[in-house]
Amino acid sequence: MQTDWYTSALPPKTGTHRPVLLKAFDDVAKQGIKLSSGGTLATFLSQKHDIALITPMTKLVILEYPDPRLRNKAQPVATVDDAVRQLADDLLETMYGANGVGLAATQVDVHKRMIVLDVSQSRDQPLVLINPEILNLEGKAVNEEGCLSLPGIYDKLSRATNIRVRALGRDGKPFELDADGLLAVCIQHEIDHLEGKVFVDYLSELKRQLIRRRLEKERKQRSTGSDFRANTRGVASGSSAVSSKPAL
Ligand code: NI
Repeated sequence: MQTDWYTSALPPKTGTHRPVLLKAFDDVAKQGIKLSSGGTLATFLSQKHDIALITPMTKLVILEYPDPRLRNKAQPVATVDDAVRQLADDLLETMYGANGVGLAATQVDVHKRMIVLDVSQSRDQPLVLINPEILNLEGKAVNEEGCLSLPGIYDKLSRATNIRVRALGRDGKPFELDADGLLAVCIQHEIDHLEGKVFVDYLSELKRQLIRRRLEKERKQRSTGSDFRANTRGVASGSSAVSSKPAL
């Protein structure tokens, strides 16, 4: 049974408006309510940049390795309020837009303990984990991993196969989740991001050097437009993201 906050409202990929509460706000804003300070509610809100309630979700810029900001340790979320829910929605929008199966707030330069995931083939099972904590780890298996912060880089890595995790949901309520397979890998990968860790940290220094050089070269080619893969990157990672090569 799907009782998720998100899918019960609008599907994520077309969800350019957010549910219920905001609909009411939208209507109010459209009616152009006049304020005593002059202007309308809509202009007041946009002037204040307090636009979370009436704006669509936003795609954020994903930091790329070896950006030093990927090394920041994320701080716990104190209260799940509108700003936190907006961040969750923006992370999901960004993850879906990049054809990823997971994304941590760290990757968009927001150093709060929040990760989002969707390992479903149908791309309609979003998961938001706030202040996630791994309670139990079991088993070991080697899987190939990729990362949205290291486009095109994949390598084999050993992770626990079964985990139990505790977190707050987008509604601020605590829950526990047993995960295996790709979801277990993803959660471990994303929680690493919150600790300032990326998956290539598990590889040898020699491999990391090669990866840094390759990424640097590709970034240069992308900026000069001489790499045709730059244009097809989204497509390429899209086809691999939900198959055996998840980008997280
Ligand atoms: Ni990643």
